[in-house]
Amino acid sequence: MTVAPEVLAGRHVLLVVSGGIAAYKSANLARALLRAGASVQALLTAAAGKFVGPATFEGLTGRHVPLDVFSDTGQVPHIHLAREADVAVFAPTTANLIAKLAVGIADDLVTSTALMLDCPIVVAPAMHTEMWRHAATQANVATLRRRGVRIVGPDDGPLAAGDVGEGRLAEESAIVDAVRAAVGPSDSPLAGRRVIVSAGGTREPIDPVRFVGNRSSGKMGYALAREAARRGGRVDLVAAPNHLDDPVGVRVHHVETAEQMRSVIVSLVDDADVVMKAAAVADFRPAQYSDRKIKKDSGDLAQIKLVENPDILAELGARKAGRVLVGFAAETDLAEDHGREKLRRKGLDLIVVNRVDMADAGFSVDTNRAVLIRADGGRREVPLTTKDRLAGVVCDEVEELLAQR
Ligand code: CTP
Repeated sequence: MTVAPEVLAGRHVLLVVSGGIAAYKSANLARALLRAGASVQALLTAAAGKFVGPATFEGLTGRHVPLDVFSDTGQVPHIHLAREADVAVFAPTTANLIAKLAVGIADDLVTSTALMLDCPIVVAPAMHTEMWRHAATQANVATLRRRGVRIVGPDDGPLAAGDVGEGRLAEESAIVDAVRAAVGPSDSPLAGRRVIVSAGGTREPIDPVRFVGNRSSGKMGYALAREAARRGGRVDLVAAPNHLDDPVGVRVHHVETAEQMRSVIVSLVDDADVVMKAAAVADFRPAQYSDRKIKKDSGDLAQIKLVENPDILAELGARKAGRVLVGFAAETDLAEDHGREKLRRKGLDLIVVNRVDMADAGFSVDTNRAVLIRADGGRREVPLTTKDRLAGVVCDEVEELLAQR
């Protein structure tokens, strides 16, 4: 099922605020971008800091607002800020900043970052009418337009000091629309597709204190959810307990047990085009839950009876209805053989086999190495990389499989 995707979901927006009275409106703009599912990094010029404080944006976006090139020098902030942006929006933009952007001056963190940008750019000017109409500003705006920068506004209306005229910051909705247009719809086959990702390790309670669990951190599944959303997928993340922050632009369903995970997935699956099951599901659960803490000397803990949990993926494989099904296999030995066997037994299109007996792959760490095996015979080895990059490779394979349908 294809539905119009929210193009900002999962995208990363750099929001640059410069010094004009309209700077206070940028806080609402940040909220609107967040509501659209984007992550937002705010950046303030020194003059903007006289109108609004970094704390406002840090509170709204949950991201630190670096103030100059020499803060966090280990990170080289202007390079990092520019590279992570999918789109940059300058709002409000003063005549001074427009001039610097046009000429390519890089004398502070904002302008150095601007010169590093390799993504679509939106500029929303705000200034007095005379400054806007000045030949210098108009020439600078024309230069920016020629470079592909989208200029939104300014509008006519009340300005600072009681004046009225052209120069007012464009409406928030117009700026958000310009950012959407700049990003453009994703051309990924995942755009607009319903994607279910499961992540984390289920917990099967024994009593109010104890549970049967496993070492899964959820990192691989969260990386997949973020990546699928970044490509325009409408993602439901079914998350067993973990310590990660909910990704923006993704609907998160927190569950604890395998049975809860199964019931959420089953309720969503009819509409789904893709299911990626990175979760480590407990194969067994205690046959009985004690709502009172079991005492050590009762003897009951030494003989907990277990019953088998439903195999969620095998159940989905049995009623596939054309959707792409991706499984994971965490193995210690004969990894590929076990992976191929699971691929067949569970009716999958793709299985991601990874070793969990190495320090740099598998549970909890940020890196992984894997072999991707497809039902159509394809095999792809991914040497040691980050879980984010491996998520990209898995999504590439899913895109190919979708494109074949
Ligand atoms: N899986 C599932 N439901 C289960 C067990 C596993 O959906 N009850 C899914 C996992 O999310 C994973 C894949 O099946 O994508 C393989 O899980 P794994 O635990 O490696 O496979 P098992 O079939 O449980 O085999 P074994 O534990 O014997 O290796």
